[in-house]
Amino acid sequence: MYQKIPGTKDILPEEALKWQKIEELSRNVFSLYNYKEIRTPLIEEASLFNRSLGEASEIVQKQMFLINSAPSSNVTAHSVYGLRPEGTASVARSYIENNLDKTTGFVKLYYIGPMFRLERPQKGRLRQFHHIGVEAIGLIEPDLDVEIISLASMLLKEFSIEDYKIKINSLGCAKDKKELTDNLHKELKTKLDELCPDCQIRFKTNTLRILDCKNDICQKIIGNLNIKETYLCPECEAHFSSVKQGLDSLKITYQISPYLVRGLDYYTGIVFEITHPSLGALDALGAGGRYDNLIKELGGIDAGAVGFAFGIERLLITSNPKAQVPDKNNLVYIIPLGKEAKKQGLKLLDNLRREKIACDTDYENKSLKSAMRKANDLNAKLVLIIGEDELKKGVVTLKNMASGEQQEIKQDEIITALR
Ligand code: HAM
Repeated sequence: MYQKIPGTKDILPEEALKWQKIEELSRNVFSLYNYKEIRTPLIEEASLFNRSLGEASEIVQKQMFLINSAPSSNVTAHSVYGLRPEGTASVARSYIENNLDKTTGFVKLYYIGPMFRLERPQKGRLRQFHHIGVEAIGLIEPDLDVEIISLASMLLKEFSIEDYKIKINSLGCAKDKKELTDNLHKELKTKLDELCPDCQIRFKTNTLRILDCKNDICQKIIGNLNIKETYLCPECEAHFSSVKQGLDSLKITYQISPYLVRGLDYYTGIVFEITHPSLGALDALGAGGRYDNLIKELGGIDAGAVGFAFGIERLLITSNPKAQVPDKNNLVYIIPLGKEAKKQGLKLLDNLRREKIACDTDYENKSLKSAMRKANDLNAKLVLIIGEDELKKGVVTLKNMASGEQQEIKQDEIITALR
């Protein structure tokens, strides 16, 4: 028997209702904030991700699902495709390729869809997971960072998720990031042996990541370093202050996290992470930040950009059941008893569907009692019974499942009665 690949999930109908709810609530919020949907392919040239996320990033180093697009003897850099591990690089590619930089300039986009990372699966960490993400491209306005964070907290409010923490930091511009990296190098050189094995590698390839290593010893070493707060240039400092002021004025609670760096190379300036205690060690519900150099880096104009993404699976681990109650079921269930009734029932089913009335029928030739049980399981609102008596009289019996009330309705008055 085949089994699903570790780190992937089947979303069965009952759970799919929760997904639909999360997606519906998200789309409503996106439309409130005037973000428009973008859908990009699930596969891209792998080098797009290498270039955007960084050759040394954990995702590119260890987590990319790669696909050869050419026969295996003929592989070149451009013939390696990658399943997208995140959405930002694809949206940036699309923004440039479709000339949105030249035609529209500033755009506010959102996406909902699957992402793929070859991770060691565990609770809240999958190989195929789903993002709800936004990207606002074309401006370096701090007010936009505030809008993005406010949008994230509005989404969480709609999902009835409470007790989350918003942690923010500024990495500064490329020059500031380099200064911080150089400083770290200097400070950590003498302590290299004490760092965890991962950080010893990071020291060479991705030094900033050492700052948010979760290892206790690394945390302690970093806590004793004297490298923070002063490396931001005046423009980045002013941007950071404006964002903080904007968040304060909207009464959005946040925490400054000087060691938050995020694992992707494209980030510059503001970065943030939203965590929730119910997620344990993998506590990030979502994360994002500015990537003001990426569009230019990929061949577009010099355009500021900011965005974030939530992981849907993690939202669902955290989400208060209130957000998960499916909409009231308006299903009408038709129970035909006997061959002739079944013919009538199928015609009625088709008529109701043409009138946009959600309905289903008993295809299994059940007895009245077990068909009623099925209607109950399906949470049907109304049941239409067609038995011998009903056929003779040219009526159907309409039963209200909530009140138990029953009445006979003439065949040609059914639609009006149901309405
Ligand atoms: P990220 O932090 O890599 O950021 O992913 C965002 C969220 O996706 C995480 O906070 C987490 O909830 C979820 N997530 C990540 N990996 C997994 C996994 N293996 N299994 C389950 N959930 C996962 C980004 O991807 C950036 N593109 C966000 C962004 C958009 N920055 C700017 N714009």
